[in-house]
Amino acid sequence: MLANKHILLIVGGGIAAFKSLDLVRRLREQGARVTPVLTKAGAEFVTPLSLSALSASKVYQDLFNLTDEAEMGHIELSRAADLIVVAPATADVMAKMAGGHANDLASTLLLATDKRVLIAPSMNVRMWEHPATQRNLATLRNDGILVIGPNEGDMACGEYGPGRMAEVPEIIAAIDGALADGPLKGKHVLVTSGPTHEPIDPVRYIANRSSGAQGTAIAKALAALGADVTFVTGPADVPPPMDVTVVKVQTAAEMLKAVKAAGNVDAAVFAAAVADWHVANAGDSKIKKDGSGLPKLEFAENPDILATVSQMTKGRPKLVVGFAAETDDVIANATAKRKRKQCDWIVANDVSPETGIMGGSENAVTLISADGAESWPRMSKDAVAATLADRIAEALA
Ligand code: CTP
Repeated sequence: MLANKHILLIVGGGIAAFKSLDLVRRLREQGARVTPVLTKAGAEFVTPLSLSALSASKVYQDLFNLTDEAEMGHIELSRAADLIVVAPATADVMAKMAGGHANDLASTLLLATDKRVLIAPSMNVRMWEHPATQRNLATLRNDGILVIGPNEGDMACGEYGPGRMAEVPEIIAAIDGALADGPLKGKHVLVTSGPTHEPIDPVRYIANRSSGAQGTAIAKALAALGADVTFVTGPADVPPPMDVTVVKVQTAAEMLKAVKAAGNVDAAVFAAAVADWHVANAGDSKIKKDGSGLPKLEFAENPDILATVSQMTKGRPKLVVGFAAETDDVIANATAKRKRKQCDWIVANDVSPETGIMGGSENAVTLISADGAESWPRMSKDAVAATLADRIAEALA
């Protein structure tokens, strides 16, 4: 699995850095190529010479090194590998990553990369348990950073608890997993997400309460299965995933344009809460209270993006998935919606206030297809996304 894969290994400054030397050896035994980057603190624990000898590669250390830049610029270095691994990832490296710092070579590479990143944290137990580190960890996970460990056990500092870097075979298994070709490898999937904002004038708009959480989770789950995801999002509350192509839009009209511009896709998932209407007489300048009475807004219907794509005669995706948020007769309404819009599947959910689904972290959905209605148990929005992504992979196989 690791043969001919290229790993950029960033070695941070912790006592576990000695394990990274073994990691380099094991990775190379399995046919991987390793390019090491050694932080200033890392160089206090292992020497560039040992890393270079074991990896049979140049070791990169400085951000401002004209020789390195002439050979391979740091942006190129950040993108040349298949995967970036940070081992050990110290509390400081994690904080820099979470804060988006770029003040040395390692942090700059981590900010500039377009590749997946796996970190193996290693630090004193109190440092690991500190709210700042746990906050940074949550931010990193949310950014799509993969994390292996730390393990619990005796630490070099004499304390006991979580903080020991994962063992080399565990890190290698995580690298294997990160590099595995998922079932959606080579498939292009489009996901729409979030609300749309329909302007009334340059400062006011009509919107809805969609947070974008479910659409974002679906895009992440599809990317995790190896799909090449184009994520067209309205102004959502949650940040877009890292490893997808993000296209930000405001209005339904812009969303349709972006969907068309995404080109041919194998599957399309329409999770956006698109406004049904826009203001036809939206003003170019701010509407003022000038004594002439209340503004008279005229509405016009927005294009139905899901129906437009479902009914394409040329280049229709093999699988088109819509959503239906209903408050009454969920299955009957969603089944009728599937027929009317002519999509393949509808993911229907009951958004009555008593379900607590709108704005919550859980969802209870029914998948409506030509085969009928299949209700899934109530689960987290992430689990709904993962289950849907698996089903999409089966359908495209
Ligand atoms: N949708 C879309 N473009 C629109 C409106 C909706 O692509 N202009 C998509 C949504 O992304 C979702 C599905 O259509 O996948 C369901 O939208 P919904 O608003 O529930 O359906 P409507 O046809 O508007 O039906 P109703 O409002 O009567 O429930």
